[in-house]
Amino acid sequence: MILRILPVLFFVTACSLLPPSRSEREHYFLTQVKPVLQQHCVQCHNGSLPPPALNLTSKATAFKRSATGRQYILPDDPDCSLLISAVQRGGTHPKMMPRTEVSLTEDQIGMLREWIEDGAYWPEGEAGRLQPKKSAENF
Ligand code: HEC
Repeated sequence: MILRILPVLFFVTACSLLPPSRSEREHYFLTQVKPVLQQHCVQCHNGSLPPPALNLTSKATAFKRSATGRQYILPDDPDCSLLISAVQRGGTHPKMMPRTEVSLTEDQIGMLREWIEDGAYWPEGEAGRLQPKKSAENF
């Protein structure tokens, strides 16, 4: 029995250990991460005086440290990324993000965690530029 499942185990482990390629990371950012940030975060976190100095419109502005020295996005480490702490805070915590009627779903939070775990790939140029997306929920 064990001999029959061993090759399967090896296959599964080998696959999950393969790091995603650059184009896979770019695809993940464009189809998963960018839409959620644009829909739920960028309407507040933009411009020259964003709260609390977190501007999520480009890689250069998003990968900064907070005033307390913690990183909002720490590649490979979702648990030490303030962005993840903020979307995971429950209830009516004043730093529960997004600061709107809607919270992110478990799936969306899981997706952001996975993105950071995989190195938080954020492309340069147009692909990596975020703009607020209006919707009935956030305006
Ligand atoms: C309606 C406006 C608004 C929206 C939408 C919003 N934020 Fe914020 N965000 C704020 C404000 C205001 C603060 C400062 C809160 C404070 O310091 O009391 C803040 C603070 C933060 C912080 C710092 C938290 C800390 O512990 O210091 C993070 C990280 C953050 N936001 C991420 C996000 C993310 C990610 C989203 C989208 C899922 C989002 N925000 C959506 C207004 C917003």
